[in-house]
Amino acid sequence: MAEFKIAPSILSADFARLGEEVDNVLASGADIVHFDVMDNHYVPNLTIGPLVCDALRKHGVTHEIDVHLMVKPVDRIIPDFAKAGASFITFHPEASEHIDRSLQLIKNEGCKTGLVFNPATPLSLADHVLDKVDRILLMSVNPGFGGQSFIPHTLDKLQEARKMIDASGYDIDLEVDGGVNIKNIREVAEAGARTFVAGSAVFGAANTSDPHHYETVIAALRAELAKANV
Ligand code: DX5
Ligand code: ZN
Repeated sequence: MAEFKIAPSILSADFARLGEEVDNVLASGADIVHFDVMDNHYVPNLTIGPLVCDALRKHGVTHEIDVHLMVKPVDRIIPDFAKAGASFITFHPEASEHIDRSLQLIKNEGCKTGLVFNPATPLSLADHVLDKVDRILLMSVNPGFGGQSFIPHTLDKLQEARKMIDASGYDIDLEVDGGVNIKNIREVAEAGARTFVAGSAVFGAANTSDPHHYETVIAALRAELAKANV
């Protein structure tokens, strides 16, 4: 069976208790911390920057931190996130003047790279840089907010991306972000995704009376993944 990774998006965490929230989801079986950076310019929302990433590292988080940049310009902030302990730095190609240069900059800073595709952005933008890409992230919502519904067309695009990655021969992860939940994660995996960002589906479980809410929801996501025919 393929290896699947669950990446809770801290956008939906309780920010007043962020360190504790991250500790809890990781102790409950999550693999990756998905870190959404929004600038009120490239997307209409404003979130967190390198200081918060650094604070999580200082707090003791050792798991992968997957920094998803929804900012424009891109390059200025890359070294700051590398210093703050980012593992992956992913960006939207439309937000960079020079995609190849931004990828190279991330690598030179010692981090892994990722390109993020909005629902309407063609995958062909990755054609000439696949040798420099460690992860392709398909947005299954328009970026900017948590809690939106999965756009069904993403399933076709995931299949297309899966073919592109397999044909390339490179070791490139395929991640999906937006509206992923217990009901749809299985078909999302069957379409080709291997890393699953889930914000409201994971952190929303804190609103239930179950004292082991994060363990319960992450186990339910994994149980669905175990049924996936891949
Ligand atoms: C949206 C962000 C996502 C978001 C996902 O712009 O990139 O990571 O937090 O949240 P859900 O899983 O609630 O759609
Ligand atoms: Zn994200």
